[in-house]
Amino acid sequence: MAEKNSEQWWRSAAIYQVYIRSFADGNGDGIGDLDGVRAQLPYLAELGVDAIWFNPWYPSPMADGGYDVADYRDINAAFGTLAEAEKLIADAHGYGLRIIIDIVPNHCSDEHRWFRAALAAGPGSPERARFWFRPGRGGDGELPPNDWTSIFGGPAWTRTTDEDGTPGEWYLHLFAPQQPDFNWDHPEVRQEFEAVLRFWFDRGVDGVRIDSAALLTKDPELAEPAPSAFTDRDDVHAIYRSWRRIADEYGSRALIGEVWMPDVERFTRYLRSDELHVAFNFDFLCCAWELDRLRAVIDATLASHAPVGAPATWVLSNHDVVRHVTRYGRANTAFGMADRRIGEPADLVLGEQRARAAALLSLALPGGVYVYQGDELGLAEVEDLPDELRQDPIFSRSGYTDKGRDGCRVPVPWSGIHPPFGFSPEQATAAPWLPQPQSWARRTAAGQDTDPNSMLTLYRQALRLRRAQPALLTLGLDWFDAGEGALAFRRGPDFACVINLGDTPLALPAGATLLLASGPLLDGQLPTETGAWLRLAPTRE
Ligand code: BGC
Repeated sequence: MAEKNSEQWWRSAAIYQVYIRSFADGNGDGIGDLDGVRAQLPYLAELGVDAIWFNPWYPSPMADGGYDVADYRDINAAFGTLAEAEKLIADAHGYGLRIIIDIVPNHCSDEHRWFRAALAAGPGSPERARFWFRPGRGGDGELPPNDWTSIFGGPAWTRTTDEDGTPGEWYLHLFAPQQPDFNWDHPEVRQEFEAVLRFWFDRGVDGVRIDSAALLTKDPELAEPAPSAFTDRDDVHAIYRSWRRIADEYGSRALIGEVWMPDVERFTRYLRSDELHVAFNFDFLCCAWELDRLRAVIDATLASHAPVGAPATWVLSNHDVVRHVTRYGRANTAFGMADRRIGEPADLVLGEQRARAAALLSLALPGGVYVYQGDELGLAEVEDLPDELRQDPIFSRSGYTDKGRDGCRVPVPWSGIHPPFGFSPEQATAAPWLPQPQSWARRTAAGQDTDPNSMLTLYRQALRLRRAQPALLTLGLDWFDAGEGALAFRRGPDFACVINLGDTPLALPAGATLLLASGPLLDGQLPTETGAWLRLAPTRE
């Protein structure tokens, strides 16, 4: 069993997400890098996670935080070198940590050699056939080929300029103009990504997170309306079947899809046994902090995964969403990507209390679980970044109406009482690429290290306990009644998680022993907005 579990490590792994630019700066230029990550491997090992997922680490002009990839086989010079990445993979393995990298197959950077060649080669060329170039509509081609809009706002098409300076064809970009979409009908695109997968698997990478996994294939005529013309088309699955064959050849390598999809049945198609191993579940992330809704989302998630035998995933925050300490402190705790509501009033004390309970909830649910860097420090969204420092293309593409995602990407505070809080070394030549709030003096990892009541201590204790409970890693979930307002479930015969989402304190089940609580008990009872892990008394047959 143990053997089987380690082969299928993704089924129950706790995965820590590292946004490299903001994690730890080794060379003092204000930008996180691989050296910085390597220095923090002991921290991650001690935290108790099983794997690290790196956001894109490739050479990139950083028009979208590295999701504009200029070369899929190298490392961004600001982060380090390929040799350093290889060393980092080996060192992480030495700590028992697996490595997941981000593969961005829907689009590349406008500085990728293929796209440059396509621009240079001109209309009708084989080089352009790897992308979606089309003449414009209107008398002079002055209108985009169709009316699709970019996911970041504005049109999904940008017009090129021909060599003689006259306006030329348009190209498709579902995201920023610096992110041209590949044409996945082209065999070279398919071969290229299969080769890229092998390139990284050969270097010891244990899994890939597949960016925008449902968007790759398009209606070849580009005629259907958006978004069905480019979302979740039936022919996308053939791509993942071929990727799965490659992953299987290497053994124990995981394919993890980013699949935002409201239709559960369509979502689980990606998880059929010859496709992806795992796909992110964002319904849980977006769910309001309310008993009935949470329970419904958990039930729906488990029910949808069961028929395909795939593990569920539980995510509270990532680099694209408002941090959950902030979300849970708002009057409306639900979240939607279309409306980030930056600046909406939030009670951060309440938000943190709920985030602590949510940590115990997410770490006790069956499946894989993700911890976004800073979750374990209780970081809130930085909502007051000066507009001129915001870098997320969503801010400008939305006409400055959506503040974008920079507020969850502020560099991590490690130590000390003033910025850069140990993010950069003492002799740093530049400030962190986004400014950290002074209030983070109370949030540093060093400051929380020995505090028995800190968020960091809670995460460490929970991750350690999780590892030690076979039922948490293998068995399913059984709801039970723990009183009014309780979200309560058992994992196996004697482990239970109880979250008090009601208005009054809850008595613990008779004979239960407390293993861990997200906050102090009151007269032996579980206060509201608090969660606990319990050892239940053995039941008599
Ligand atoms: C990533 C984003 C990125 C987008 C385009 C997403 O789903 O998580 O950060 O901006 O894909 O690549």
